[in-house]
Amino acid sequence: MVDFTLSDEQKDLREMAHNFAEKEMRSVAFEYDKDGTWPAEVIQKAWEVGLMNTHVDEAYGGPGLDYLSGCLIEEEFGWGCSGIGTSLAANGLASAPVALGGSEEIKKEFLGMLTEAPKLASFCLTEPDAGSDVSGMKTTATKKGDKWVITGSKCFITNGQYADWYTVYAKTDKEAGHRGISAFVVPRDDTVVIDKKEDKLGQRASNTATVTFNETEIPAANLLGEENKGFKLAMMTLDRTRPGVAAMAVGIARSAFEFACEYSKERQQFGVPIAMHQAVAFMIADMATKIEAGRLLTWQSGSLLDHGLRNTLAASHAKRFAADSAMEVATDAVQVYGGYGFIKEYPVEKIMRDAKIMQLYEGTSQIQRLVIAKEVLMGRNVNEPIPEAIAKQDEAKAVEEVVPA
Ligand code: CAA
Repeated sequence: MVDFTLSDEQKDLREMAHNFAEKEMRSVAFEYDKDGTWPAEVIQKAWEVGLMNTHVDEAYGGPGLDYLSGCLIEEEFGWGCSGIGTSLAANGLASAPVALGGSEEIKKEFLGMLTEAPKLASFCLTEPDAGSDVSGMKTTATKKGDKWVITGSKCFITNGQYADWYTVYAKTDKEAGHRGISAFVVPRDDTVVIDKKEDKLGQRASNTATVTFNETEIPAANLLGEENKGFKLAMMTLDRTRPGVAAMAVGIARSAFEFACEYSKERQQFGVPIAMHQAVAFMIADMATKIEAGRLLTWQSGSLLDHGLRNTLAASHAKRFAADSAMEVATDAVQVYGGYGFIKEYPVEKIMRDAKIMQLYEGTSQIQRLVIAKEVLMGRNVNEPIPEAIAKQDEAKAVEEVVPA
């Protein structure tokens, strides 16, 4: 488990992803950031070379890559442009609940749709009044004959405007809190309306939209997993996607670090390159350590899944540390550039703006700490196999006694 030696295939994959990030993402990143240009061409190319839907099983047309390999790709996406990278990776978030909870027919239909053509899917969990507190959602799903009818609005939805289908979480029992939420796969039709495209601080090339479901009817078979078990499906999904988000944060940090290193060797002050001043050299050293530590936590969190082990704690450690580190490293990179770092003409300005969202989406850094605290205080065994790890009500109750809600 401690051995993170990459296989030849993983090394080749990383090199391929890096070349793609350099040629197709970095080359347009700063231009696309300006107007928030939708990266349609990059998505098409990434799909063609096989850098999208990498988690989809071979049975549904994907390569069925392991989680560690997914992290290698996402680090390069973060290095190339995390805005475009988020657009490329979002299918993974939407399709994990389908892979986990869909019937064979549903998996063939919806996962197959993504591997047969460069189509997109979105994960619809967040609502205006239900961000960190998922169970506060108001969207409802009502059973009518052999159909479910979904009504409600989801916000901050990555790729929402361009998605062909959505994984939607809705209340199926309004009185039951998190135990009254179910998950559904919802094809886009005329009842699905895009209300708003967000104008963002960073990751401007990714699309972030409000998606409203106006009495959207779907077949009963589109329920994912069991009725009222959607909250768990969402948590299990995030366990599987947070390693990738952490990897993207490592890529952002690495990119800021590389720019800062280069600049510190060129920029002369007091007669020497600023890298020769210990004040700057120590900042560079701290950046390097944060990147290495972030990558190790990230690889561990992906690798546990590859070994069939529960990774909730490791995923939150990785996401929290890598996201906070990306923000710190990018901010320090701006500091190394001095006043120039604050100017849009220089790359670190965009990278610092992009880094901020890593501490917010897929669970804020505070939510990761909440998960870590619960896991640590419960003293759960990280080597617990996945199936036994879910649905432990007694453990959840035990932690309530030490961690007030
Ligand atoms: N796997 C399986 N089950 C889990 C689980 C896990 N990792 N974590 C919790 N559960 C289960 C518990 O066992 C418990 O089960 P019972 O009903 O049987 O008791 C149940 O889920 C509730 O667990 P908690 O008591 O721990 O729940 P909570 O409400 O106290 O805390 C939370 C949950 C950690 C705060 C959670 O709500 C959370 O992660 N919130 C953040 C949500 C988030 O990440 N949103 C981002 C959306 S995605 C995005 O960003 C969009 C994008 O496009 C990029």
